[in-house]
Order: sequence, then C-alpha cells, then structure tokens
Amino acid sequence: MNLSSALERTKRDFLVTNQYLDNLVNFFEKEAREGLQKDSERSLPMLPSFVTQIPNGSEKGLFLAADLGGSNFRVCSVHLNGDRSHELKQMKWRVPNETMKGSAAKFWTYLAKCIQDFLTEHHPEQSSFELDGNSYLKMGFTFSFPIRQTALNSGTLIRWTKGYAIEDAVGTDVCESLQTAVRALNLPVDVVAIVNDTVGCLLARSYETGSSAQTLVGCILGTGTNAAYSEKISRIPKLATYDSVPKSAKVMVVNTEWGSFDNNVKFLPNTEYDQALDLMTPNPRFHMFEKRVSGMFLGEILRRVLESFLKKGTIFTSAKTSLRKDADILTPWSIDTSFLSYSAADGSSDLTGIQQELTKIGISDSSLEERQAVKEICHVVALRSARLVAGIIAGLLKMTKAFEKFEVVDIGMDGAIIEFYPHYEEMVREALRSLRFVGANEKRITIGISRDGSGIGAALCAAMAG
Ligand code: GLC
Repeated sequence: MNLSSALERTKRDFLVTNQYLDNLVNFFEKEAREGLQKDSERSLPMLPSFVTQIPNGSEKGLFLAADLGGSNFRVCSVHLNGDRSHELKQMKWRVPNETMKGSAAKFWTYLAKCIQDFLTEHHPEQSSFELDGNSYLKMGFTFSFPIRQTALNSGTLIRWTKGYAIEDAVGTDVCESLQTAVRALNLPVDVVAIVNDTVGCLLARSYETGSSAQTLVGCILGTGTNAAYSEKISRIPKLATYDSVPKSAKVMVVNTEWGSFDNNVKFLPNTEYDQALDLMTPNPRFHMFEKRVSGMFLGEILRRVLESFLKKGTIFTSAKTSLRKDADILTPWSIDTSFLSYSAADGSSDLTGIQQELTKIGISDSSLEERQAVKEICHVVALRSARLVAGIIAGLLKMTKAFEKFEVVDIGMDGAIIEFYPHYEEMVREALRSLRFVGANEKRITIGISRDGSGIGAALCAAMAG
C-alpha cells in the first residue's frame, strides 16, 4: 500500500463521527447509572468519595498534602488563607521503577521518607519528635488510583493503573498503610483524608472560584484520565450498603473512574493498535477508555502506527536500511506523548520540528510527504482522544441535568494533555458543539485549569476532615 492510501485508512480507523458521539453520550449515561446502583468488577466504578461538602473559598489553615500520581510523588504544605488564595511549598520525586513494582512495605516506607525530607526542609519546627498529638499536621493524601472507600480516611486499593504493579498492596487500606509508615519514622503527621486527584481538582477549583460559580466536574487529562462530580446522595443507591455516611449530608462527590468506561469494549473504537497495546499493559482488559485517551498511551499508539507503516515499507523507506534494532520507533513505550504536542505545534513549511522528533526515535532522514503523514497521524490520534473526552463529559452533564440546573457549567481540569497539547480544549469544545445534547450550550461551559489541584484539594479535604 502506498503512503497516501495507508494514511487514508488510518484516518478512517481513528475517526469518531458526530453520530457515534451522540450514541456515546447515552451509553455513558447508562453505564454511569448502573455504576451508582451497585459495585461490580467490570462496570464503571462510580466510587463514593465520602466528601460531602464543597468548599466555598473561606477555608483556612495550614495542611499537608501528599500526592501520588502517574510518575511522581509530591509532598506539599498548603496554607489556605480563607479568601480563595493559598501559599504552597512543595517537593517532588520521581518514583523509581523498582519501587513502582516492588513490595508494599518498601513502597510505603519510600513515601514516608519523602514526607520526612519535606518536613526537614520546609517545616523544621514540625519535624520534632517531641510534639504532642494536638500539634500534628493534618495530611490529605491524594491517591490517584481506584480505591473502594468506606470513609474519608479509609479505602482499599481495587487495582493499580498507570504502570504500577505492587501486588501485595492490592486489597489493603492505603490510608492506614501510609499512616503506619509515617508513624514508624515518628513523624508528627496525621493522615486524615484520602482523595482521588479528580476529587482534589473539583475541590480546588471550587475553592478558587468561591461562591461565584458552581464547579460541577473535576477532570484529569494527564498520564491517566478520570473525572469526579458532585451527586445527590439520594441518587447513589449503592451508598446504602456503606457505613459512615454523615446523616446530614445531601451530596457526595463521586469518583467515576471513567478510565474504566466500557471495559468490555462494546462501544469504544478498537483498532488493531489499541488491541495490541492493551496486551502490553499490566492491567489488560481494564481502563479501556483511558488507554485510548491519556498521556501514558497516546505516544505508544502513535509508535505502533508508525512501526506498522515502517514494517510494511509504507514510510521512511530511505531511513529503513540504517535503522538500529533498538531504535525507539521499534521499542514499546519509547515514544513520549510530547511527540504529539511538538508535532501539533510545528507550523514550519518543511516541518523541521517533526524531523527533530523523528531523529530522536531513530529516523534520521525523511521526506516532506512522510513528515506530513506523521503530522496527520499524530493529529488523528489526539483528535480521537479529545472527541471521546467530549462525549463522556457530555454524558456526565446529561446525567446530572447540568444545563437545566445551572446557567454556567464550570469544569476544573488538570494534567499535561490539557495543559500542553496545543488546542486540545478547542478540539473538545468543537466536539461538544457538534453533539445533539450540547450544541449551543457549549458556550455555557467554562473550563479552568486547576494547576495545583491535587495538592490544594487534598489540603481542603484535610481541612474538612475536622
Ligand atoms: C487513573 C486512575 C484514577 C486517576 C486517573 C488520573 O485513571 O485510575 O484514579 O484519577 O488515572 O490520574
């Protein structure tokens, strides 16, 4: 097949039509409602967070936040000033590969040691072992993996995602494990709340906007993807089987874990590249939506398309003979999602930016036609991601009757994809406009990047834990 026909085929493979998206909205709504009814292994998790208050900007005090996301562990102290503003100090570590896949004991000790280093550096007054319990700092722990929570400060890990594989941690209480490791080092810290990054994002955005707008959704588009939203307790039937829901509570933030939308792939696009990629992940057949959308996967999807073109002799014909066997283009997980961002940002007539990126993955020479093809492939992979996200956001807004209830529908977002992929938000918005359910209402949606969302959100949660 020649390059232009192969490219046309790939464009078709990644196409997400308006009609498909209209159906996706309804399919999501159905899965989400089922998830609120009962827990089951393969359905959309819709996890209760036990957060029953939404901040209004007036929260005050000094709190600690620990944040375990895709690749980094971050510890911060957040001073909430009570006027929608805050001050934040932080330190960040890249979690070593062997810690991400080793034993639970080593993992929790590693996190506790990072907390110790942070206190020594930024709060020496709080690293004293002499402090009595009343002067302990309260910590909110942002843990961005699916957990089954039973209270604000208790939750067991359902499964790992995003490359972690610490088997003996699955099924154990993550709040208690961190607290035990922190105690073992004698640190004056109480881990009082555990919170998903999307919940943190929703809370942080609500604190920042104060009572001026009601934030309905907190959404992460980074290494992984997920969203949380605020739901009426009366619409969460499965909460009846959980203890410790405060009697006075009317709403609860729900962590959808939408990365696990349509795990049975009844509906999601399913190209040969998606299927092969799934088999290479530590959690095959789970998080199937995330594997088509988020930063951890887009680079690998692109690599698989390019590798397939290359092996069929459709692209990079002149570079092929000198290609090393260990070149990144031939090595799973070796193309970073930033490749797609650079490609979208390259507006030069001869696409020199793309050539620079190609050189890094082992293709030192390419024709303009080949670089144009690369640009288009990157575009269709990213566009599919943005359009799927739009469909699922619309599903959530439909389920919550957001346009009926609110004049302005505010969404907090965070993560490298939304922050760094050029015009990603515009692609999402365009897809929203094309949806029957949204149409002109798209103008009523405000989207705000909530940069330190997980840190501030965890601090807010610690504040609300009382
Ligand atoms: C993964 C995790 C989820 C998290 C998301 C974004 O999907 O399972 O808990 O919110 O990544 O970090």
